[in-house]
Order: sequence, then structure tokens, then C-alpha cells
Amino acid sequence: MNITNLGTRDYASFYVACELYKQITQHPHSKLGLATGGTMIEVYRFLVELLSRNNIDVSGIETFNLDEYVGLVDNHEESYHYYMNENLFKRYPHFNASLIHLPNGNAERLDEEAQRYEALINQQGPVDIQILGIGENGHIGFNEPGTDINSRTHIVDLTYSTIKANSRYFEDEAEVPKQAISMGLSTIMQAKKIILLAFGEKKSIAIEKLLQTKLDSQFPASILHTHPNVEVYVDDASAQ
Ligand code: GLP
Repeated sequence: MNITNLGTRDYASFYVACELYKQITQHPHSKLGLATGGTMIEVYRFLVELLSRNNIDVSGIETFNLDEYVGLVDNHEESYHYYMNENLFKRYPHFNASLIHLPNGNAERLDEEAQRYEALINQQGPVDIQILGIGENGHIGFNEPGTDINSRTHIVDLTYSTIKANSRYFEDEAEVPKQAISMGLSTIMQAKKIILLAFGEKKSIAIEKLLQTKLDSQFPASILHTHPNVEVYVDDASAQ
């Protein structure tokens, strides 16, 4: 695992956008694992700029999102469907809709939806690059502390730490969904390359723990130490 402090959020976001851009232009049928959250907003902004400026054909690019809340309608402003549309797919409207995949947090039978999504990734994957943020408690995707390292796409009960951290995006804490559907740790580990980003002081403890923890299911991101191709980019604040 390589950890690099790129100084600012802008530098790091631009760097990662360039990595995605290179993957897309050099391999027009790439499969990308996408993430949401505040961390990724600038990455998508720079990626859209690069794609637009160079008029890049993305019709062969297939995307798989990590996770989605359970029970939010797709056009709810905090759903990850809405986030992806607003931050990427509407801004660069040349992706092939049939190659954009997110788990459906509104499925009637959630366990079946988890199985369907996992099967799809296994059939179409592995992804070439998976981008990841990190929760303050070390979660990746929505894999909370204690998640089995062999987990596949599954339904997750969110911890209070995550509900509290994510309440900053909702009007109040009570509105944050209590469950999510997320790729499992083992699903994420199938990616050929993983890039994790963390910004801001609030992530500094998680980054410190990531450096110190070898493999501990109570700190899910530590599983990344066992992947052969992981790059971590941080800013000054999270590197403290
Ligand atoms: C959220 C998401 C993760 C995200 C992480 C950090 O709960 N499920 O995919 O990486 O927590 O979010 P943020 O970037 O908003 O801090």
C-alpha cells in the first residue's frame, strides 16, 4: 500500500481524476468502481472537465457503484443514484445508461437484490480501478466494523457513528437511513487496482489507524493491506 500526501484536496482530486481519465482513454472498455460521499465530489468535477475538454467517448465504459442507502427514492437528494447523476452522469451525458450500475436500495426483496448485484459484478468484472473513500470508523463502502472479510454484496445495518457522520448531509439525524446495500469487502478486493482518498482533519484518525492496523475486522479498511495494488492519497489535514 502506498500512501501519498498530495497537499490539498484539489491536488489530490485532480490527480485521481487524471488516473480515471487515463484509464478511460487508454482502455475505452474499462470497468470502473465508483464511490460517493463528499470526498469524491471534486474528483468527478475534474473528471467531467477533462472528458468535456477532450470530447472523450465513454460509451464503452461500464461503472459499478459501491453502495446505496435502503429506502430512499432514487430522486431523493441524498440517494447515491441522485448523487451520481448530479455529479457525473448528467454533467457528462455520454455514458451508456445500460452500462451504469448501482445497487437498488428500494428493491422489494433486498437480499435478492444483493445477490443480483454481486452476480453482475462477478459476471462483468473485475473492475479495473475502484475508488474508495473511508468512514471515520474505517468503513469502506458501507462495510462497518465487524464485517466479515469474505463478505459479498449485502444488506448492512449502519452503525451510530456512520449515521451521525452522514447526518451532515441530511436535515436531521432522524432522516438518515438505518440500512444500506453495499458491495462486500471481498467484492471490493476483486478490483485490479484500488485508490482510496481521504481529506480533512476528521479523517486523520482513520488514516493513522489504517497505517497502524495490519488486518483487523474491527477496522474494515485494514483489509486493503492484503491487496497487491492499493494507492492512498491524502491532504495535509488528514495526514496530520
Ligand atoms: C459513506 C459512504 C462511503 C464513503 C464514506 C465517506 O458513508 N458509504 O462510500 O466513502 O462514507 O464519506 P464522505 O466522503 O462523505 O466523508
